[in-house]
This record gives sequence, structure tokens and C-alpha cells, in this order.
Amino acid sequence: TVTHVVLTGGIGSRLWPLSRKTLPKQYLELFDGESLFEKTVARNQNVSNKMIVVGNIENYKMSNAIMSKFDKPFIHIVEALPRNTAAAIAFAAFASKPEDVLLITPSDHIIEGSSAYSTALQQAIDLANKDYLVTFGIKPTKPETGYGYIEFENENVIAFHEKPNLETAKTYLKRGNYFWNSGLFCFKAGKFLEELKKQEPEVYETSKVAWEANKDGFLDYNLSLKIPSISIDYAVMERSKDIKVVAANFEWSDLGSFESVYDYLVQKGHPIDTNRNIVIGTSMHTTFIGVKNCILIYTADALMVLQKENSQEVKQVYQQLESIA
Ligand code: GDD
Ligand code: MG
Repeated sequence: TVTHVVLTGGIGSRLWPLSRKTLPKQYLELFDGESLFEKTVARNQNVSNKMIVVGNIENYKMSNAIMSKFDKPFIHIVEALPRNTAAAIAFAAFASKPEDVLLITPSDHIIEGSSAYSTALQQAIDLANKDYLVTFGIKPTKPETGYGYIEFENENVIAFHEKPNLETAKTYLKRGNYFWNSGLFCFKAGKFLEELKKQEPEVYETSKVAWEANKDGFLDYNLSLKIPSISIDYAVMERSKDIKVVAANFEWSDLGSFESVYDYLVQKGHPIDTNRNIVIGTSMHTTFIGVKNCILIYTADALMVLQKENSQEVKQVYQQLESIA
């Protein structure tokens, strides 16, 4: 059996002011009236016969509202506070049988091309059944530093490199045998826990204790505080010897920053002026003079203008503005 695990712990701070603490981007109904969370559940409905949602105390009601549109039983794991993806995935694994194959997906990505997607999933499930930790590799188009890189030789992974610096990312792009890590994973629950225990025993132990004390899926705050905050990428993927990669031929965007939102919208035919400036959130007439590659974001209570290339800096703005975020 395949269990679809949806990770929905993020707040999408790099998409402020579109994405808010009380309404993170995966719940915004920006995409033909549907949220990315809903699209994620729908996309994987036929692959899995079980579902686990791993979210938190701030968003579980929004997740429940969307899940009620689907006729699918699911386990809801509600974190008291975010402890990053190694622990979030460990909870889902503890809630499963060791032989269950878990398909881990973020809740906030755009994926298009359903037949290429199912082909990749089938390949991944076959490899997961052979006790591999499977990643999905995307052909890189720029030296992005916000992603993990998978150094490969055919299906074999030589090494996994999480978030390299710009110089390193440039050499990866030149060499050619590197994929971006899409952030989707597939493995048996028991295999993941075995690797986590080997590579990060403290995360394994503390998340096990927290999981065993859960009340109807709700985790205890104090026990959760003891869990080291580390992502699956650093904790397991960079260190395990049993990683495989499936080349993903589907269209993928993580919409993680305004730069990726810009690329996605422009590719979909969103209006753009001769100096490649765009407007998001209003149909008001907007004129840009003497500036290039800018994005204007308009919301009811906040306005932002940014240079596309500076998209990663939104996170700092968000941190300064947390009171109105
Ligand atoms: N439940 C839960 N709890 N979910 C979480 C937590 C948590 O503590 N932290 C993060 N998540 C969710 C996020 O909402 C997102 O859906 C997913 O896990 C990945 O976390 P991000 O914080 O978005 O990771 P990243 O973008 O820095 O990097 C990852 O994704 C990239 C592709 O988008 C890595 O896997 C990279 O290697 C990868 O390239
Ligand atoms: Mg991300």
C-alpha cells in the first residue's frame, strides 16, 4: 500500500504579503479557484489508498476544511510547533506500518503533466519497494541556491548536496550530471526510520517519544521542543548510501519565491510590460517608468515593489514586519 503524506508546516514567508501567517500560500485560492493544498491532494488521489496530513496547530482547521471535500480517510498529525521536515516525516512513519510505502509531498508546489507524473511515481514506488530512499530529480535551468542538488549517474545517486553556495551551484550546472531535488520523496516507513536512527539518533529518539505521547494526533509542546530542528535533506539525504533518483519529466515549480512565481506567471501568459515588469493582485492601471524586472504586489493592507533578482530578501522583510505579517 502507498500512503500519501502531505507536509504543510510552512508559512511561505518569502511570498509575503501574499502569503500570511494566518493564511499561508498553500491555502490561497489563487489557482483557478483552488488552493495548492487541494491540488496536491487531488493529484495524488489515485496513487495512494491512505493519507497522512502533517500540519500544525495554526493551520489544521484550514487543512480539515479542504480534506472534507475529498471522500478519503486520513490521519491528521498536528505539530505543536514546527521542528522541520526530518521530524515531520518521522511522525508520519511512526504512524505507519514499516512496510508501507510513503510518498512525501509538499503542499505548495505546482506540478503539471499528469502522465509524466504517474510514470515517475510508478518508478519511484518500485524502487521504494526495493528498500531505497527515492528522490525526484528536476533538470536545473539556473544556479539556484535555494534547492538541493542530486549528483547522479543514471539512476544512481553519487551524492546529495543541500543548498550549495552560488559558486558551487554554477559548477554543478556546468557539469551537467546534477538534478535539482524536487522536495518529493518516496520510501518505506521502516527504511526511513532505520536511516534516521542511524544518521540522526537524537531526532529519531525525541520524535519517537513525542509521537508516542500524541493525543488524537496532537503533539505535546514541551516534548516537541526537545526535537532538534533539521530537514530531511541534511539529516538523511546527504548521508544515506541508499538513495536513488527518478528523472522527473513533469513541469515543476516550488513557487518558493517571487522569482519563481514571476517565471511561472509569465510562462502562463500573465501580462508583462516591455521592461519585463509585472503586477500581481490588482487590475488597477499600473505604470513602471525607468525600472526593469520589477514585481508589484498589491494586497488589501500591504503593497510591495521588488526587483525580481532580490526575491530571497523578502524573508528578512517578513521577519522585521512580523507584527503585521
Ligand atoms: N509539517 C511540517 N513541519 N512541514 C514542514 C515543516 C515542519 O516543521 N518544515 C517545512 N515543512 C514543509 C513545508 O511546508 C514544505 O512543504 C516542505 O516541508 C519543504 O520545506 P521547505 O522549508 O519549503 O524546504 P526548502 O524549500 O527550504 O527545501 C526543500 O525543498 C526544495 C524544493 O522546493 C529541500 O528538500 C530542497 O532540497 C528542495 O530542493
Ligand atoms: Mg520550499
